[in-house]
Amino acid sequence: MKILAIESSCDETAAAVVEDGRKVLSSVVASQVAEHRLYGGVVPEIASRRHAEVISKVVSQSLEEANVTLNDITAIAVTYAPGLIGALLVGVNFAKGLSYATGLPLVPVHHLRSHIASNYISNPELKPPFLCLVVSGGHSHIVMVEDYTKMKIIGKTRDDAAGEAFDKAARTMGMPYPGGIELDKVAQNGDPLAFKLPRPTVHDAPYDFSFSGLKTAVINLLHNAEQKGIELNKADVCASYRYAVVDCLTTNFLKAAEDLNAKKLVIAGGVSANSLLRSTLQDECKKRGYEFYMPEKFLCGDNAAMVGSQGYYEYLSGNIAGTDLNAYATMSIEK
Ligand code: KG4
Ligand code: ZN
Repeated sequence: MKILAIESSCDETAAAVVEDGRKVLSSVVASQVAEHRLYGGVVPEIASRRHAEVISKVVSQSLEEANVTLNDITAIAVTYAPGLIGALLVGVNFAKGLSYATGLPLVPVHHLRSHIASNYISNPELKPPFLCLVVSGGHSHIVMVEDYTKMKIIGKTRDDAAGEAFDKAARTMGMPYPGGIELDKVAQNGDPLAFKLPRPTVHDAPYDFSFSGLKTAVINLLHNAEQKGIELNKADVCASYRYAVVDCLTTNFLKAAEDLNAKKLVIAGGVSANSLLRSTLQDECKKRGYEFYMPEKFLCGDNAAMVGSQGYYEYLSGNIAGTDLNAYATMSIEK
């Protein structure tokens, strides 16, 4: 069964054709990052307008590259929540129009569920149940994936998401948006123990995260040094900060795994591309005898292949939208 998938929740317009949830026949991603970089972050109205301009072309290209026509497609999957509302509406409305014109069923897909599904593409043997750390620019969740479409939130951030915390610190150091990627690269040459940074925890909620205090601590460190005319070693700051963020993420994730007796661990979302997060969890899971899965790096960021994968399982579970499908800026992954 071939699914045509569409994604426009943030600053990537993407379309893909995916067979049986696991085989990617095509995946086209048109990124707007270069334009948003001029403003230091995503400008929602610009994002919506760029999606509107390129979506037809991106979808046609995904069909061409898969060497199929709409006659070969069984269903249309689209990201409908959460994300920038104006951006989501472009994809949702395009998918609705296409569904109306072709009579193909429309499958609504939750963005974070699709990030998790990127793992089904990279790891064909992976099946639920498993415990997943979902870390993106907007969310940081520990999720028990009981089945393909049944999820339970075990922990989440109380303030900033991990990606946001990386991006804001990177911005203070003059790195271009989205700074998390460059911060990760610069950190490779630094000493993670050079600067002592806090490891904030949330009282009575051992699986929840809080990154705002840690982010403020590194920004204060940078500002204080600047005021005193001291030049800090940038690689050391990046390495110490990356170590602190990854330490918070892995500590809570591994504690949740231990407490819940979960022996299959998975990571997903843009921040799952972070090299220290990947290597730390790989080592820790090996030590503990857990199975560990992660998406290939090119599937960590936003794309439509992951929407086609999750869309397949949503379709099988009977999740078909009517013509009144709307988009939502926020929505729990559990629904
Ligand atoms: O999942 P994603 O592409 O978009 C959202 O759904 O938010 O995640 C984007 C986030 C950005 O904050 C970006 O800086 C971060 O993922 N990111 C990274 C790395 N690659 C992307 N953060 C740390 N290390 C990386 N290597
Ligand atoms: Zn995302």
